[in-house]
Formats: sequence, C-alpha cells, structure tokens
Amino acid sequence: MSWRSPPRPSVVLYARGVEPRAFLVAGRPVHGEGELTVHHPYDGHPVGRTTYATPEQVEAAVAAAAGVAAEAAALPAHVRAAALDHVSRRLAERAEEIARLITAENGKPVKWARAEVTRAISTFRWAAEEARRLSGEMQRLDTDPTATGRIALVRRVPRGPVLGITPFNFPLNLVAHKVAPAVAVGAPIVVKPAPATPLSALLLGEILAETDLPEGMFSVLPLPNERAAALVADPRLPVVSFTGSGPVGTAIRRAAPEKHVTLELGGNAAAVICEDWNTDEDLTLAAHRIATFANYQAGQSCIAVQRVYVHEWLYDAFLPRLVAAVQELRTGDPTDDHTDVGPLISADAAARVEAWVDEAAVAGATIEVGGRRDGTTYPPTVLTGVPADARVNTEEVFGPVLVVTRVEHDRAAFAAVNDSVYGLQAGVFTHRLDVAFAAHRTLEVGGVIVGDVPAYRADQMPYGGVKGSGVGREGVRSAMDDYTEPRVLVLTGVQL
Ligand code: SIN
Repeated sequence: MSWRSPPRPSVVLYARGVEPRAFLVAGRPVHGEGELTVHHPYDGHPVGRTTYATPEQVEAAVAAAAGVAAEAAALPAHVRAAALDHVSRRLAERAEEIARLITAENGKPVKWARAEVTRAISTFRWAAEEARRLSGEMQRLDTDPTATGRIALVRRVPRGPVLGITPFNFPLNLVAHKVAPAVAVGAPIVVKPAPATPLSALLLGEILAETDLPEGMFSVLPLPNERAAALVADPRLPVVSFTGSGPVGTAIRRAAPEKHVTLELGGNAAAVICEDWNTDEDLTLAAHRIATFANYQAGQSCIAVQRVYVHEWLYDAFLPRLVAAVQELRTGDPTDDHTDVGPLISADAAARVEAWVDEAAVAGATIEVGGRRDGTTYPPTVLTGVPADARVNTEEVFGPVLVVTRVEHDRAAFAAVNDSVYGLQAGVFTHRLDVAFAAHRTLEVGGVIVGDVPAYRADQMPYGGVKGSGVGREGVRSAMDDYTEPRVLVLTGVQL
C-alpha cells in the first residue's frame, strides 16, 4: 500500500495571521465560515484556530459518507488494517507534538497528555488487529434432523455510516474510540469534535488523510453544538456514538429512536476500601492511587474517583494518608512536566465545582484540604461529613473533588455505591476473591476494578455504563459490534 506524502507538522501555535487549521470534508482539507479560536484553559491565550463547516460542507460530508458506504464495507481487511496501523505509527512518530497540542487546547498536564497519546496509539493498533481478526463465525444447523446438510455463516456487516460526537476531556483518544472501530469494520464516519478542543481531532483527520482509505470514509467537522441536532436526525447516518453529558445523551436518544445509538455519559465513580485492605502498605497505596486518579485531569474524566467508602475500622488510618497524598499533588501550569493537576476546561466549569463544594460545606461538610478557586484552576479537594443528598455526592462533579464516607461494613459500601443514578465503573480495594466476586455480582456498573481505582481503563476492554451512565459499550471490539449487525448466510447440501 502506498501512502500519500505526509503534510508538514501541524502544531500551529496561534499567531496573528496564521492560517486557521483546515478541517476534513470527505478526507479533503477545507476551510469553512466564521472563526473558532481555541484558548488555553490555563491562562486563556489563543492556541489555535479553525473555522466552522458551512451547511453545504456538512451536506457534502454526509452525502460522501453515504455514497462510499458500500465500497467501504467491501474493503479488504488488509486495507483497513494498514490504514489503522499507519495512524498508530504516525501518532507514535508525532507523539510529543500531539501531547503538547492536547495540553494547549484541553489544559491537561503534559504528562497526562502523553499518556493519552500512548493510549490512542494502542487504540489504533488494537483496531488494526481486530480488523484482521473480524471473520464472523460458522454455526452448524444440523442439530435438527430437518436441517441435516445445512450450515450458517454469520458475518457482521456495517449498519452504515457513523456519526461520532466527542467530548473535550480526551480530545484525541475518545475520537480514536469512534474512528478506529469504524475504519476496522469498514464504516464511514463523520466526527463532530467538542468546540472547546477541535485541534487534536483535526490533526487526527490530517493523519487519516495520509492513508488510502476511499474518499468519503471520514470527515471531521467543527460545528457549534446546536448544529449537531441536524446530523443526529439525518437518516444517512444510522449509527450515533456520543460521549458527553447525560442530558444531551438523553436528547439524542429521544430524537433518533430508530437509530443505533451508543451513549457514554457521566458517572460519579466510587472506590471502596474493604475491611481486608488494612495494612500500612495497603492504605498508603490506595491513598496514592485515589489521590492521583481523582485529580489526574482536574477530575474531568467520567471515571475519575469522586466517592470513597471506607470501612469504619480503617477510616481514621486512611483519611490522613489520603489528605497527605492529595497535598503532595502539584497544581499549576500544565505545560510543566512536574504538574499533576491543571486547570478545568473553563472558568464556568471551575465556578460550578466551587459552588457545589461551597454548598456542601454550608450543609455541614468539612473541607479537609483544597476548596479555593483561582480562575480556571480548582485545587484538589477532599470533603468529609458530606450529606448524602449533596450534589458533590449525587451528581457528576467532573472536577478535582473527593467525598470520603465512613461505612459500617463492605456490604454497606456496595449499597452506597449503587445508591446513584449512575453506574460506570467502581474500584474495590480487596485481596479476597470472594469479596471481588461479591462486588462484581452486586455493583450496578459497567466495570469493577479490583485492587485499584475505578479510573482504570484499558482501551481494548468493554467500557460503558448502566443507568444514567449510558447504553452500549466502547472498547475497540465492543464498538465494532455496535457499528455492525449480524447477517446470516445459510448453505444447504453441506456435509461437515
Ligand atoms: C471518559 O471520561 O469517559 C473516558 C475515560 C477514559 O477513557 O479513561
């Protein structure tokens, strides 16, 4: 397979007169209308710009996706896999540049941006491997005398072009989770990135444009959120994969009941410190993992630890360790290699977190550490004595806030985890196999992580939630299942 020559490196840091970054319509770089300037969440300086897709460009992208669907579905596995391998390789070659771009537009500390790039490299690599494996299955039908001599071949075929709507919190890897499975199954995709962080998605589009995927296979369209509804309603995009807020997810489902919709929504992920997780080493490890993964992108991950339930015998030993671990985190400039916690995406987001913490404090909560906002930055904060109905408990904070609660026993902790409108992932610190299985049986979530925080995610595993956390699963293989449906071929007169 031959590759088109790569475009010049494209972290275009904003300067007056610098061309806005192109977006992709049917794989071709174009400019649209208006101006979308992206600002650094830490200090507000402009870091890049692009333009919005015009209605005609949106129409061209959707028409091209619909027009190429049959050709895309028939692409040989080696073509799909080679394109995915190419993206994985190019992300690796440009890793530092891309990490800096993620930090510039999203504000996450560069060490976490590097981790995101590493994950995206592996998301595409996994997709390439899955594309090669995707073969369907054979079923024998001669289990009944009437079907003697018959077999069924069950192949998965794309449902059709995919609309991917992606959030700001992982501007590269959550785009990868929409795009890579689509390419792997041979489904065209139209991506609408978050308006706050379109640059990483555009860069990914540039890399995709280096491949030999057919024209129309992918488009990346910067659009204001209000214009997404028309895409959701468009019958030429029968699959919608959305990651973002609960209310928007619900609106999408209502607006497109006939479509295949995958929703990755919010969470208020919990960690449980079980009775047997009781040595000095155990508690120190849990404290550090929880401190890190409550705050690692200023809490802006759907599986960041938000609630912590601690067995009452361990509570007094655990809390000071947790507070100390949180105090060790360095908050500040996300471009600094040593920064652990950067800004939130906007001053509004930080002000909302501040309001919820203040509200909990007024209702009787104790602020053990943190609690004072500085612009877009909110410091890692630990709360105790929080009323059960406080928003920092019941809703998704999406900020660097931990609520720590003492519980009588492990069962009570599991009940408290389930006492939520959400159910994405839970972390259970236990050494005991029976407790691990009890957690897995009992907890109403999409995934239980034993011996670690709920924020753990491997990109190949099924990822998604129950209740208000969404429907469907991502993770390369799971998304490939979502983007396809089985089609059966029955053969007669076959002797096995
Ligand atoms: C999310 O915030 O839902 C994604 C979490 C992750 O990919 O680690």
